[in-house]
Amino acid sequence: GENGEAVQLKENKMSPEEKATFKKGWDDNAFNQMASDMISLHRTLPDVRDRDCLKLEYDVNNLPDTSIIIIFHNEAWSALLRTVHSVLDRSHPKLVKEIILVDDFSNKDHLKEPLDAYMSQLKKVRILRGKKRQGLIRARLMGASVARGQVLTFLDSHCECAKGWLEPLLHRISLNWTNVVTPIIDVISDSTLSYLHTSAKSTSVGGFDWNLQFNWHPIQKRDIESRKSDADPLRSPTMAGGLFSINKKYFEHLGSYDPGMDIWGAENLEMSFKVWMCGGTLEIIVCSHVGHIFRSRSPYEWRRGVNVLVKNTVRLAEVWMDEYKQLYYDRINNNLGDYGDVSDRKALRQKLGCHSFQWYLDNIYPEMFIPKNSVCTGEGSSNSPLPMCIDSSTETSTLNKPVGLWPCHQQGGNQLWFLDKNGRIRRDDHCLFNSRGTVMVAECNEQYAHQLWVYNKVGW
Ligand SMILES: *[C@@H]1O[C@H](CO)[C@@H](O)[C@H](O)[C@H]1NC(C)=O
Repeated sequence: GENGEAVQLKENKMSPEEKATFKKGWDDNAFNQMASDMISLHRTLPDVRDRDCLKLEYDVNNLPDTSIIIIFHNEAWSALLRTVHSVLDRSHPKLVKEIILVDDFSNKDHLKEPLDAYMSQLKKVRILRGKKRQGLIRARLMGASVARGQVLTFLDSHCECAKGWLEPLLHRISLNWTNVVTPIIDVISDSTLSYLHTSAKSTSVGGFDWNLQFNWHPIQKRDIESRKSDADPLRSPTMAGGLFSINKKYFEHLGSYDPGMDIWGAENLEMSFKVWMCGGTLEIIVCSHVGHIFRSRSPYEWRRGVNVLVKNTVRLAEVWMDEYKQLYYDRINNNLGDYGDVSDRKALRQKLGCHSFQWYLDNIYPEMFIPKNSVCTGEGSSNSPLPMCIDSSTETSTLNKPVGLWPCHQQGGNQLWFLDKNGRIRRDDHCLFNSRGTVMVAECNEQYAHQLWVYNKVGW
């Protein structure tokens, strides 16, 4: 695993005991804990920064310091400790005021006395423990409330910070306290723990769909054109939410997180909309890289029922989205459920004098597809020998595969398509394209001519 390389374990060569450990590691964490445990807590990573980034210098005496806040729940020992050591090993000590570990009510023994004992040797690390399961949002609020740094930096508990990650983030905030910044989030493989890096050019920016789910997009054309250097920050309409830095006073000024939201979900979009609508900017700082183990499932009991997510999302829509909230409500059959009282959050928006959601769409996310603006909507059918309709979900798994053809059912769903003003046939961010005669689904991208379609007079 040194230098971010893969750890290859051969299950067929393992003893029965090893096999059991291997399997338990996956079950407990949804990543290969056995591989993680074999890697040094101080492993090296390649220097993944773009060449333009290496030319930049930062004067640490003129940068604000930061409190690093890491929430964990039943995290694997090696993953949590490597996160902490990667911060300490690869950050200038002047810049790290403290690391605040917030234990969201873990029940694993290694995270109790052994963790206290280990961390007591590291002067900068403090551990806070909740008395009950409170979820990510309230645990972060707890960490932020005791933080002493000028900037808050939130990280997940299975990250590795790469060389030079911190200076560019803090530098950007030092230029303007309303800059909210994220690193490039590189992928650490869940199976081999290899560190896979993304260059500034091929990184993605954050968006969302009308289910109010966060998603990633290629960099928009206008943003590519306005870049002078590969080191320039990239504007991002939204953020994934796990890893970001924000001036502590600005976090408080913006009303931090909505304390009425439970567990987790939608808080990242709330922060994103709020930052942009209330006068700040949200950027990906491409010279800063942090690796993150992306898991394909959550190993924890985070959400008891989906209602938590709906509740949080309805709160988000009610407070920030004006008439556009209806687009989300249509997706949940107008079953808003009991989402609590949002009058405080509406008052906050009023007090901050924020822009409308229409302003956000027009100025920050003009690429966002708004169903009511389409040229026409309906199904795409062939008529021989039987009417068959283009049928495809907008799950990521359908991307870059041929569309399905099923008998037309005229009930919308996966057969409902929109022709947008720019000539793309789409649903949310999925567009049809012509791949050498086969109609496939891809992420919409205004740069791709093969996503353009013409609807002619005879309805072809
Ligand atoms: C900080 O950024 C905001 C938003 O871009 C801008 O309106 C403001 O003038 C900037 N402040 C300073 C001091 O540059």
